[in-house]
Amino acid sequence: MLQIGPYKLHLPVVQAALSGYSDWPMRAIARRLGAPYTICEVMVDSFVNSLKERERTRHFLLVTEDDHPAGAQLMGAVPDEFPAAACRLVDAGFDVIDINFGCPVKKVLGRCRGGFHLGQPDVALKIVKCVRDAVPAEVPVTLKMRRGVDDTQQSRDQFFEILSGAFDAGVAAVTVHGRTVMQRYDGPSDWGFLKQICAEFPGRTILGSGDLFCAEDCVRMLRETGVSGVTAARGAIGNPWIFSQAQALLAGESLPAAPTVWQQKEVIQAHFNFGLQVYSEKRAVKQLRKFGMRYADWHPASEHVRAAFIKVTRLAEWNQVFSDWYADDLPGVYPRNPGLPKAPAATAFLP
Ligand SMILES: Cc1cc2nc3c(=O)[nH]c(=O)nc-3n(C[C@H](O)[C@H](O)[C@H](O)COP(=O)(O)O)c2cc1C
Repeated sequence: MLQIGPYKLHLPVVQAALSGYSDWPMRAIARRLGAPYTICEVMVDSFVNSLKERERTRHFLLVTEDDHPAGAQLMGAVPDEFPAAACRLVDAGFDVIDINFGCPVKKVLGRCRGGFHLGQPDVALKIVKCVRDAVPAEVPVTLKMRRGVDDTQQSRDQFFEILSGAFDAGVAAVTVHGRTVMQRYDGPSDWGFLKQICAEFPGRTILGSGDLFCAEDCVRMLRETGVSGVTAARGAIGNPWIFSQAQALLAGESLPAAPTVWQQKEVIQAHFNFGLQVYSEKRAVKQLRKFGMRYADWHPASEHVRAAFIKVTRLAEWNQVFSDWYADDLPGVYPRNPGLPKAPAATAFLP
């Protein structure tokens, strides 16, 4: 079992933070289909501090009753800006504050945020301490890191300095993405590195990230590396079934049949309806179109369905996809190339 602070999670596979994706609707559908814990898309500290009760931005602070435990993720440059933002997120109802020391996006690094901190352990640990001191003791503070800025020994040493300093400062769990910042999304995530840190930090909660495209990958990472849990990221886009499938595999069962076309329709429409609860119709269509292109992987006519979702710009066209492709309850198919990264490299949505 995976435990993050006081939260005992029934499944060691959780929904990762994903800019532009892990909004409340994605988290709600993941939760409904078995995710025990979800993390919202990263938010910049100054953005959180300036959020007003506006229709357009209200959803950033939304945590519903059935959305617990939920993590909010913060990113920033200066330690002093973090505490107020962290407290605001706790007041909004988030249960865990996750600090982002991993984002590799150029604009983010240029502003000394995200993965930039992996190269300055003193500032990184100041941020950790500021946040830990600011939020109530019962609220776990966690970190998201990449395995370093680059492959140099200096970067490796800095990673370990931050990791052990953060645990000493009271961080409840750390998620490690086995790529470097410089690597961005090129090349494989180094699971050997994850195995090494689990061996060096026994008893600590370490979650693994990188190249988890299907339930089998999640189970394989758990077994091969010894991480306490895994965070499903690109592999959970248009695939909220990854959680129940991983649960079946971990229980020693075989992989369940792919959801049928009508089961897919039910989930996609529920996801869309969650979208309508927080976005305008136009924005919900735009947001769900991205997911539709990935949900299409489960359809027996996936290429055609993906092409149909790509063209959608309005509600009528969205509905037409369902009349055209989801009217008959055909058997679904497992995505043909689950090992291939299908989402664009992180074009982080940064307000
Ligand atoms: C489009 C996109 C957005 C992401 N946004 C975030 C984010 O907001 N916070 C974060 O910690 N990681 C973010 N990540 C990184 C993922 O959580 C994960 O660590 C990474 O994709 C590696 O896992 P994967 O190879 O299984 O996708 C993002 C990744 C992608 C592709």
